[in-house]
Amino acid sequence: MIELKEVHLSFDDKEILSGVNLSIAPRERLVVLGQSGSGKSTLLRLILGILKPDSGSIQFKGLEVTRMGRRRLNKMRQRIGMVYQYSALISSLNVRDNLALPLEELTTNTRAEIDAMVMQKLELVGMAEARDKMPSELSGGMRKRIGLARGIIMDPELILYDEPSAGLDPVTSTLIDQLIISLSEKIGATSIVVTHEMESAFRIATRMAMLYKSRIIADDTPENFKRSSDPVVAQFISGDTKGPLLEGLPQEIT
Ligand SMILES: Nc1ncnc2c1ncn2[C@@H]1O[C@H](COP(=O)(O)OP(=O)(O)OP(=O)(O)O)[C@@H](O)[C@H]1O
Ligand SMILES: [Mg+2]
Repeated sequence: MIELKEVHLSFDDKEILSGVNLSIAPRERLVVLGQSGSGKSTLLRLILGILKPDSGSIQFKGLEVTRMGRRRLNKMRQRIGMVYQYSALISSLNVRDNLALPLEELTTNTRAEIDAMVMQKLELVGMAEARDKMPSELSGGMRKRIGLARGIIMDPELILYDEPSAGLDPVTSTLIDQLIISLSEKIGATSIVVTHEMESAFRIATRMAMLYKSRIIADDTPENFKRSSDPVVAQFISGDTKGPLLEGLPQEIT
């Protein structure tokens, strides 16, 4: 589904990704772990073709994303759902119109057909009753669920989630995790999920990859991640302040 080979990317003279290799098979749910600023959101932007790498190859179903022009990128993006870190709903549009927007712009469906598709996705995330609400009337958790419904509105083959449950209470967070799993099973989509929340990560993942110092330092099953003897991986999973991850910070903080 997705194949990254030797991807390099620097901003100014700061190296963000240095020879990243990653391959994702259909129907996998890959959880990408890494500290804040390690390049997780950047990785998703590269896959969507919003950013171009300095070198290396990024393929979506055998198509080279790095060489696509605007039109082919837009076509590809119709097959990829993106669930943003901060929901990114349009505040002047109600829930129905937020979800309908890509369908109105990119398909020739009638209004009645679009309404039916919007309702179907709202029902999937348990938010049918929010149809006519404005984003400002929704709680953070509701907004996340609407963001999720919008991400899958075009029935994507691949769904990218950036911190889907960050900032939510534990129960709502579990609900979002279950939604991600049931969506991937119901619509047969492949998922890439960026998260810091280890409980979510282990609930969702069929595979995990960890970004550290511009590289993928581990790429394995959740079971092997749990057992990892790599001090960076082990520290990240346990949340321990002792270990290589905080090296360089003043003693008083650690
Ligand atoms: N457009 C840009 N121009 C310059 N630097 C950028 C740009 N986008 C990201 N960066 C830098 O790249 C690094 C990685 O950013 P990114 O947003 O991918 O991190 P992240 O792993 O998603 O972090 P977080 O967990 O906090 O969301 C950061 O140092 C950031 O400052
Ligand atoms: Mg991010």
